[in-house]
Amino acid sequence: MESVCTVTMTTINDNYLKLKAGYLFPEIARRVNTFAEANPDAQIIKLGIGDVTEPLPEACRTAMIKAVEEMGDRSTFKGYGPEQGYSWLREKIAQHDFQARGGDIDPEEIFISDGSKCDTGNILDIFGKDNTIAVTDPVYPVYVDTNVMAGNTGPVNERGEYEGLLYLPITAENNFTAEIPSDRVDLIYLCFPNNPTGATATKEHLKQWVDYARANRSIILFDAAYEAFITDPSLPHSIYEIEGARECAIEFRSFSKNAGFTGTRCAFTVVPKTLMAKTSSGSDVELWKLWNRRQSTKFNGVSYIIQRGAEAVYSPAGQSQIQQLVNFYLENAQIIREKLTTAGLTVYGGVNAPYVWVKTPSGLSSWDFFDKLLQTCNVVGTPGSGFGAAGEGYFRISAFNSRENVEAAMERITDKFKTL
Ligand code: MLT
Repeated sequence: MESVCTVTMTTINDNYLKLKAGYLFPEIARRVNTFAEANPDAQIIKLGIGDVTEPLPEACRTAMIKAVEEMGDRSTFKGYGPEQGYSWLREKIAQHDFQARGGDIDPEEIFISDGSKCDTGNILDIFGKDNTIAVTDPVYPVYVDTNVMAGNTGPVNERGEYEGLLYLPITAENNFTAEIPSDRVDLIYLCFPNNPTGATATKEHLKQWVDYARANRSIILFDAAYEAFITDPSLPHSIYEIEGARECAIEFRSFSKNAGFTGTRCAFTVVPKTLMAKTSSGSDVELWKLWNRRQSTKFNGVSYIIQRGAEAVYSPAGQSQIQQLVNFYLENAQIIREKLTTAGLTVYGGVNAPYVWVKTPSGLSSWDFFDKLLQTCNVVGTPGSGFGAAGEGYFRISAFNSRENVEAAMERITDKFKTL
């Protein structure tokens, strides 16, 4: 008889097995590819993932080309840069994005990175395992999935919600801004202008969160990747425009959507030195120190060439060029809003944000509407339910595309809407 041999094997992070099958956007891409293979003549227009289409601003390209030349000369060549980013970029960000708007942020509190998607996930490295965590519903899926990966949740239930997370519904009834929870939570993810609903937060609303976080010694993880799309002058661009936020908030910013850096990769995270959390034995620690330690160990900084490109965003030419880009996408959003409204659909967002949040017609589920739109109009959007249970019955249309594609997509939807 053969002997049974027990083989020991490397184990995995079991938390990955709790994740839903695929990350939302690759899953959409998979379905679109299947459709495209079966319908090779279909002219598919993608208004799903929020990826920019317009070229990099000239000011950024010129700065990057100059930086490439510097890399070709021994006297100006750069090897490893500071893990936190070059001081000339951090200073410009602190001055322009924060101090000029009344936010008291020092350049040393700014950490340059290769993306706010990465940073919103990576930030969990510096927090403990027993924290209570609140997310809005619907929500940018990265916040949820990275908590699952980190072991901060239990399994997923039949509604698609993970045990151990507090879901705060954002609906048309509350203007897509969550109610402040009655219970205490340690970490709260907020995103304004909001992905996916396109909603914005007033200073008064953010003040309520800051007051809550300070009273409860909670930390707000504030994603402001879409702040450049704010056109209403009364709305805050940063949480640090709210008094007291230095004691309770980390902010994530990006050059992806304002300057077209989705493929170029540059972003930054702000961790004020006044932000404290406690050790398991109860003493206070500066989160800045931990994030600085984390970045200097796990990250070698963004390339010199790309940081020079990002710096050019703050030049007068760069400022006017990024404003043109933002205006262009906002005009797309306006066209989407108008055409869909004319077609009889109810739409939200898309005014101070590049996303339009659409109520699906005739009680269709989000994925049913996705399939119908793909099959009937060859237009791709993002099913609201992919962002959470409360997103069911909604659909997100991204304004990031060429004018020609946006107009053609809206034309097709308006024409065929009655059959949807
Ligand atoms: C989205 O479509 O929600 C965006 O691609 C988010 C991101 O920038 O990762």
